[in-house]
Amino acid sequence: MRTDYCGELRGEDSGRTVSLCGWVSRRREHGEHLAFIDLRDHTGIVQVVVDHAHDIRSEYVLRVTGKVRMRPEGTRNPNLPTGDVEVCDCEVETLSRAEPPPFPLDERLETDENIRLKYRYVDLRRERMQRNLRVRAKVNSAIRRSMEQQGFVEIETPMLIANTPEGARDFVVPSRLKPGSFYALPQSPQLFKQLCMVGGVDRYYQIARCLRDEDLRADRQFEFTQLDAEASFVSQVDVREFITNAVASATEAVTGQRPAEFPSITWHDAMERYGTDKPDIRFGLELIELTGLFAHTEFKVFQADCVKGIRVPGGADHTRKQLDALTEKVKLWGAKGLVWLKVEEDLSLNSPITKFLSDAETENLLGAMDAEAGDLLLIVADRRATARHVLGLLRLELGRPPVAEGGLHFLWVVDFPLFEDLDEEGLPVPAHHPFTMPKEEDLALLDSEGKGLLEIRAQAYDLVLNGWELGSGSVRVHRPDIQQKVFDAWGIARPDAEQRFGFLLDAFGYGAPPHAGFAFGIDRLVAILVGEENIREVIAFPKTQTGGDPLTEAPMEIAPDHLTDLGLRLLPHKS
Ligand code: AMO
Ligand code: AMP
Repeated sequence: MRTDYCGELRGEDSGRTVSLCGWVSRRREHGEHLAFIDLRDHTGIVQVVVDHAHDIRSEYVLRVTGKVRMRPEGTRNPNLPTGDVEVCDCEVETLSRAEPPPFPLDERLETDENIRLKYRYVDLRRERMQRNLRVRAKVNSAIRRSMEQQGFVEIETPMLIANTPEGARDFVVPSRLKPGSFYALPQSPQLFKQLCMVGGVDRYYQIARCLRDEDLRADRQFEFTQLDAEASFVSQVDVREFITNAVASATEAVTGQRPAEFPSITWHDAMERYGTDKPDIRFGLELIELTGLFAHTEFKVFQADCVKGIRVPGGADHTRKQLDALTEKVKLWGAKGLVWLKVEEDLSLNSPITKFLSDAETENLLGAMDAEAGDLLLIVADRRATARHVLGLLRLELGRPPVAEGGLHFLWVVDFPLFEDLDEEGLPVPAHHPFTMPKEEDLALLDSEGKGLLEIRAQAYDLVLNGWELGSGSVRVHRPDIQQKVFDAWGIARPDAEQRFGFLLDAFGYGAPPHAGFAFGIDRLVAILVGEENIREVIAFPKTQTGGDPLTEAPMEIAPDHLTDLGLRLLPHKS
C-alpha cells in the first residue's frame, strides 16, 4: 500500500512520487483551496498539501499518493526531521474514519492515567510510546544475542505451578479438573531454573514473565519481565560477568555507547555510606560516620548506638521552616529527631545544639565532615539500622536527580548477609530467597539463633542502576542437608518445607551440580534507558496503580455457572 514512511522523507526525495499511509495528526485549512494535513505513522510526521480537507478529521486513516517537493523558502520547519519537504499533487484515500480522539495526542499535555489506559491503542500512537516500545524490543533482542553468545539456552518454564518463594503473594488460578485446588502463577522461574541445572542444562536463560500480587509502585507492576539466568559449575564472579555483558549490550544497543566496567561495593559499605542496599551513586551527599567522635559526649542525644551525618554543600540557606519540615520527615521515617547545624563564614556553628558541644567536639565535627562555610550539617543519632535508613532517605530527598538526568551509573552490591535484621518478634528478615548459599566459612553459624544469624554472610549480589534495584542473584545451595538447615534458620517448619519444596530437596538427592544465577527486571532497565519515572510507560498494556485494566475492565466477575464448574462459591464482599 505504501512506498515510504512519513517520518523518513527528506530533501533528497524531492521529485519522487510516493504513497504514504498513516493517521491525521493535524489538519489546517488555508482559505478555499488550500489545506495542510500532518500525516503520522510510527516514524514521524510529514506535511501533505491538499485542495481541501473538509471531510477529513483528526485520526482518520489515510493513504496519500503524491509528489515530494521542497517547501517554499520561509515555510521550512527546522524542528521537524521532515521539515524541509512536503507532499503535493495528492490523491487522498480515506481508509478509516475515526471518532474524535478521547484526549489530545500532543506530547506536551498530561492526560489522566485512566483515560490513557482505557484508550491505550490511541495512546500508543504517540511518539513517546512508539519509542518506548521499540527501545524495549531492542533491549530484548540485544539481551538474547548476548546470552546466546555466552552459551545460554532459552528454555520456557511453566506458568501454572505450585508456588514460588519470592516473598510476595501468589496470584492463583482455580483448577476445574480438581475442584478446590489451585495453581499459582510464577513469581519467578526460580525453582524450575534450578531443576534445569539438576537436569544438566548447564546454562539456562529466559525472558520470563513473572507475576506478583504486591502493592504497585512506580517500579512495580503485577506482571513484569525478567531476564532470568542460571549456570552450573560457575562462581559468582562468572555470573556477574555474564549479566554485566548482557546489560552492557542492551545499553549499547539503545545508547550507542557501551558502559565501562561496573564498579562494585560491599553490602556493608553501601549501608554505611548510602544507608541503603541500592545506592544512587549519581550524586554525593554520602553518610559520614560520627559515632566515635561523640563516644564521650555530654550531649544526651548523641549518646547513642550510632551517630551519622550528611554534609549539604551550600545548604546553610535553608530556612527554619524548611528545616522543621525536614525534621518532621525524618520523624515519619522513624528517627527521634534531626540535628541541624549551619556553618557560618568564620566556621562557627549556628544551631540550637551548639551549646551542648565542647570546643573539641565542634572542631572534630567540622573536620570529620570536611565542612566549609555555607554548608548545612544534618545529624541523626539512633540504632545503627535506623540512623542509616533515615539518612539514606534524607540523602535521596536532598539530592536525587530525575531519572533522565545524570547518566547511567551501574553498581554491583556484593557480600549481602543471609539475613538483614531481626523483626519485632526476633525472627530473621531474609535478604534473598531461601535458596541462597551462605559463605562456606559461615556455614557453621546456621546453627545459631537470633543475632547470631545476622553474622552469616551470603553468596548473594544485586545489580543497581541509578538507585533502582535492577536485579539480584546468588550462588545456590545444592546440597539437601544445607538446604534443610537454611529452611530451619528461616523458620520454615520442616513439614512446611517438605510440602512446599520437598521436590527440590528430592532433586538435590539425584546429583545436583553447584550452580548460581541471577534475574534482572527488563521493565526497570528500559524505563531508565528511556528516562521514564514509571515502568508503566514501557509496558504496552500495564495496570493502573490500583491493579485494574481500564481497557478490558479486568479484573471482572465471572458467571455463576463458571464458578460452579470450578467448584467455587463467593463469600459476601468485605467492605
Ligand atoms: P527478585 O525478586 O529480586 O529476584 O527479582 C529480580 C528483579 O525483578 C524485578 N522485579 C520487578 N519488576 C517490576 N515489578 C515487580 N513487581 C517486580 N518484582 C521484581 C526487579 C528485581 O530486581 N529469582 C530471583 C532471582 C535469582 O535469584 O536468580 C528473583 O526473582 O528488577
Ligand atoms: P531535644 O533534646 O529532644 O529537644 O532535642 C534537641 C534537638 O536534637 C532537636 O532538634 C531534635 O530534633 C534533635 N534530636 C532529638 N533526638 C535526636 C536523635 N536521636 N537524632 C538526631 N537528632 C535528634
